[in-house]
Amino acid sequence: MQVEEILGRVARDLEHLKQFTATPGEGCTRLPFTKEARQAVDFLGGLMREAGMEVVEDAAGNIIGTLKGTNPELPCVMMGSHYDSVINGGDYDGIAGVICAIEVARLLKETGAPMKRNFVAVGFCDEEGMRFGTGYFGSGAMLGNRDPDYCRKFKDTDGISIYDAMKEHGLDPEKIQDAAWKKGSIGYFLEAHIEQGPVLDAENIEIGLVDCIVGIQRYMVTVHGRSDHAGTTPMDMRMDATDAASKVISKIADWAREKADGTVATVGYVKTTPGGMNIVAEKVEFTVDIRSKNNDNINDIARRIRAALDRETAAMGGSYEMDTKLVITPVNLSEEMLKIMEESCKAHAYSYKYLPSGAGHDSLEIGQVIPTVMVFVPSKDGRSHCPVEFTKYSDLSKAALIMTELAQNLLNRD
Ligand code: GLV
Ligand code: MN
Ligand code: MN
Repeated sequence: MQVEEILGRVARDLEHLKQFTATPGEGCTRLPFTKEARQAVDFLGGLMREAGMEVVEDAAGNIIGTLKGTNPELPCVMMGSHYDSVINGGDYDGIAGVICAIEVARLLKETGAPMKRNFVAVGFCDEEGMRFGTGYFGSGAMLGNRDPDYCRKFKDTDGISIYDAMKEHGLDPEKIQDAAWKKGSIGYFLEAHIEQGPVLDAENIEIGLVDCIVGIQRYMVTVHGRSDHAGTTPMDMRMDATDAASKVISKIADWAREKADGTVATVGYVKTTPGGMNIVAEKVEFTVDIRSKNNDNINDIARRIRAALDRETAAMGGSYEMDTKLVITPVNLSEEMLKIMEESCKAHAYSYKYLPSGAGHDSLEIGQVIPTVMVFVPSKDGRSHCPVEFTKYSDLSKAALIMTELAQNLLNRD
């Protein structure tokens, strides 16, 4: 297997996928349960079929291809990533890992090497959580962690629930639990992904071996005040939701900095209602995303936010809600599989480095219960979640090669 042979196919497929965006010329916007998602799923399904796989789209909108082994009742080796993107994101986050998984299937088929277990390639639906503020929808459903109530509960900013969006997309949310795999049927999970940070590019390293993924908590906070005339209402007689919310928001980043261990906290969305220059805000909604390798730090920052909201809304005479969108603990990836990939890197003379992931991945959800491993490939200047995101096809091809060798090892285990 030569990197040059892999490169052509990976480049062809990722270039083709670039057209499935709602914002042409302004990066990739491929939100779950949209026309662009449908186009990507159909295209990926076609590639899987061409690669000799049996293909199904499951009840959660995941696209799944299976290459049959000689003992298909053994727990499978699964590899994949997500096909959705953030708003005005890049052309590699997630989707590059789906194409790598399909490429691994092609290489396994072409080499004709024996395989006892099934190899399963997956394009996961809605990893980002961009539309509904959540995350890991498809991978969570595969583990049995999503149900119709979950689908009803979470809504996008237009008030459309996951439930209704699924129906519109031709999926039956009442059947979401059909997407769950039987306990023990997935033996190993592998994911290739772009690094989305600057380390590998800056140090000129070809392969990142990911040893852990941070835990994440996500919240939507709503602060309620009262709308009044901005000119006539004295400062001590108003219930200004923006004043109260901003006093809390302004502390969040410092609470993360205080931890001094890589903990991060982000307020990425703020909306005032009614949103007029001369109206005291009646309502402020804002999101909070907190991440750390140390789960206690995440819990502590969430606790401080609640305490500050209690204090500031009481001082104003208003109220608040803090809705939980996602709670997921940090995960360590499989040392055994990392070692196997390290040996492959040495054999091919690829430079490599062990590093943690500050981004969330389907591997974070799946790695909670199944032996899981990830490789990263360099992101130019570390840029990601933006249109300039760029990763070399030659680097992705090296990741596909390393993962094929790992898969071959795993597929022949009893
Ligand atoms: C996904 O890319 C995330 O880390 O939020
Ligand atoms: Mn991703
Ligand atoms: Mn992402």
